Amino acid sequence: MCGIFAYLNYRVPRTRKEIFETLIKGLQRLEYRGYDSAGVAIDGNNNEDKERFIKLVKKRGKVKALEEELYKQDDLDSKADFETHFGIAHTRWATHGVPSAINSHPQRSDKSNEFVVIHNGIITNYKDLRKFLESKGYEFESETDTETIPKLIKYMYDNRESEDTSFSALVERVIQQLEGAFALVFKSIHYPGEAVATRRGSPLLIGVRSKYKLSTDQIPVLYRTCKLINPVTFFLRTKNVKNMCNSRLKRLDSSTCLHAVGDKAVEFFFASDASAIIEHTNRVIFLEDDDIAAVTDGKLSIHRLERSASDDPSRAIQTLQMELQQIMKGNFSAFMQKEIFEQPESVVNTMRGRVNFESSTVLLGGLKDHLKEIRRCRRLIIIGCGTSYHAAVATRQVLEELTELPVMVELASDFLDRNTPVFRDDVCFFISQSGETADTLMALRYCKERRALTVGITNTVGSSISRETDCGVHINAGPEIGVASTKAYTSQFVSLVMFGLMMSEDRISLQKRRQEIISGLKSLPEMIKEVLSLDEKIHDLALELYKQRSLLVMGRGYNYATCLEGALKIKEITYMHSEGILAGELKHGPLALIDKQMPVIMVIMKDPCFTKCQNALQQVTARQGRPIILCSKEDTESSKFAYKTIELPHTVDCLQGVLSVIPLQLLSFHLAVLRGYDVDFPRNLAKSVTVE
Ligand code: AGP
Repeated sequence: MCGIFAYLNYRVPRTRKEIFETLIKGLQRLEYRGYDSAGVAIDGNNNEDKERFIKLVKKRGKVKALEEELYKQDDLDSKADFETHFGIAHTRWATHGVPSAINSHPQRSDKSNEFVVIHNGIITNYKDLRKFLESKGYEFESETDTETIPKLIKYMYDNRESEDTSFSALVERVIQQLEGAFALVFKSIHYPGEAVATRRGSPLLIGVRSKYKLSTDQIPVLYRTCKLINPVTFFLRTKNVKNMCNSRLKRLDSSTCLHAVGDKAVEFFFASDASAIIEHTNRVIFLEDDDIAAVTDGKLSIHRLERSASDDPSRAIQTLQMELQQIMKGNFSAFMQKEIFEQPESVVNTMRGRVNFESSTVLLGGLKDHLKEIRRCRRLIIIGCGTSYHAAVATRQVLEELTELPVMVELASDFLDRNTPVFRDDVCFFISQSGETADTLMALRYCKERRALTVGITNTVGSSISRETDCGVHINAGPEIGVASTKAYTSQFVSLVMFGLMMSEDRISLQKRRQEIISGLKSLPEMIKEVLSLDEKIHDLALELYKQRSLLVMGRGYNYATCLEGALKIKEITYMHSEGILAGELKHGPLALIDKQMPVIMVIMKDPCFTKCQNALQQVTARQGRPIILCSKEDTESSKFAYKTIELPHTVDCLQGVLSVIPLQLLSFHLAVLRGYDVDFPRNLAKSVTVE
């Protein structure tokens, strides 16, 4: 986990050496989070210099190495005095790009360091942003996702509408374009002595120290047109703060003002964790998602960004958004198609920084503080709608195996209709790409009222479900625009498997199985690419099927969810009737539908249900059915009876569903195009169903 620390002294004289010591000590308090490099950004000029510039010092290795590097800088007079100064510091745990000085933070906008930023989290749409910025002539030097941020704020600055555009206004425009999780602190030569900090899905705290009584005349609110003001609070959420901090924290009521009256001396400390602040002050603010905190002339103001209301009329933003949309679609004809083909990369992003393939360990940072409680629970209840529900069905069996707990999977609407009993020793998961689905959100609140532990698995940082659950995992699949969910499904699938692996880390009897699954995860991206290479063949199949009225999809075991999900894709974008059928249920009714006219797709993989699926295959062919079979490569047994086969690479049984769903995603896409429908925005449907 990266570590953020920054220090602003306003009208409090400090030597550069004292500033170094404060920044380095702040990073040392964060070393426990694990990191591989560190860096700082400070004023490079001395106080009397007219020419302002920012000095970056970054070093691979430990904070100690950075400290030594700092004092080696002979252009930095450690005795120089600063009455007002803002320095930022960072420890990096590499996710995008190897551990190196160039990939360390602070990351910069350009070679003259006009804007620098430190970041904790993952920006999932950084590649699209980078393409846009490169097209505007911005040159990148690192492999990080973070570097897009200082360059984006430079783009906003270079295209600002007026000379008095504030620092926080620029930051606001930047974060409206970001997808993913972040805690950010910005510094700029254009705004000397000013700081701007913001967060979404990653903690960020501000400590305030002043020897003067902070004024209580009014809260320094900046009412933005109908933007909700986040009342400033002086407490630290104790649930995730180490005991040594708790006892020393002072909770002040929220009517207290934050800024020093007039221009009295004050100091601000920014950190990703209270342990770096508590030795300086016990007056701490816990920023909420989408808060933007700005310090200007010693005054701290906080306002909240309303992400939906992108009311910024500036041409720069409109240009960016239009061109970004085009970049996001790339050379594909639809967002859905692009998102299907993005899956080799999106599953990597889901696993990034979480699965260690060398040590065969899995760490989901958002759950680690709750793992003991989850392990003691009585059962797992996994709740979702549509595709998200199918991700729960797809992973139920492997979760039962790895957690050795009963696992219920529930459609949110039905779960609520039944007033399902829920208890405080239940752990309830809420799967949602948007994080705003009303049924799922209502189910979350229902479970919270009954004091169950709630876990969110979402793709939208800062969404209602991600904010209201006790803990959770961001699947980091990147923005999903197509109404028909594709890459979110496979990332939800992988995220739930990672949870199972994390839960079973200490089960000796499961080590062999865990190793098999982790190896399967490692080779998954390449296998997904191999399945995507069948696109042409699947298009040919669509040419045969697109005039049909119905299409049945059947399978069982690990691939039953594939049938449900495939049928949903087909019905929601081609408007054909399609049904996912449990092969074991065939003779209990659905077999009556089978004849030589009825198109049937059968998912038959080399897994524990293979023989039973052969049985179903015989039942279908005995009624002149002509099944299209999704099967494992070289499965000569099934292909003997197939009208057509689509052979897939073989992976571990509990992951096969990630591969077998892709031909059905592609088939639904081609069917919809051939039928002349809008693939991305099908009739009657919305990307996020925020009504019950
Ligand atoms: C799936 O393709 C549909 N878009 C729909 O079923 C969707 O999965 C469902 O509405 C749940 O949405 P969520 O994942 O955002 O909660």
